[in-house]
Amino acid sequence: MLIAFSIIISYLIGSISFSYLITKKIKKIDIRKTGSGNAGATNTMRVLGTGPAVGVLLLDVFKGVVCILMANLLGLPDWAAALSGLAAIIGHDFPVYYGFKGGKGVATTIGVFFMIMPLFALIAGVITLLIIAVTRFVSLGSLFFLLFTPILGWIIHGYSTGVLVALFLITILAFYQHRANIVRLIQGKENKLGHKKAQV
Ligand code: G3P
Repeated sequence: MLIAFSIIISYLIGSISFSYLITKKIKKIDIRKTGSGNAGATNTMRVLGTGPAVGVLLLDVFKGVVCILMANLLGLPDWAAALSGLAAIIGHDFPVYYGFKGGKGVATTIGVFFMIMPLFALIAGVITLLIIAVTRFVSLGSLFFLLFTPILGWIIHGYSTGVLVALFLITILAFYQHRANIVRLIQGKENKLGHKKAQV
């Protein structure tokens, strides 16, 4: 019962789209119809600039943090906390409040991964920032973070099977959401950070 409660509340929290709300408020436009079409921090940077993008990033990260905190406070087992994190990310990607069209879940995943495996998320996060700084591809850095963090958790820590399944489901979903980015990366057409124009 408590597990179902945590999963449902996490989905509802994850569904709050800060990039949508802030872009709508400041520019009166739907972020999903501009730039890359993604409701996330990277696209907020294209549309509104760095300040609002950092705000969106932190708020989206916070959604993941809050859901894991809630699951822990409810005394749920780790696999159920990880599933709550997955539910928050599903909410971010397919938000119930905005026609199920949201983002790619990276920032919320950062919050979830930092809460479950802080050291591995930190290590992966530092390498991710280097990748983004060198290549200017946020998507490439994101994909690295999404894959490398759970791999570290799997190989080094040896979390329970339930936790690992939830973590890798998060990764698989994120790769699916980045499918257009992956095609553009392979074709050498991916949007670079700092370029205002972006392909959807
Ligand atoms: O967080 C999403 C990022 O990895 C890519 O965003 O807008 O360039 O598709 P975008």
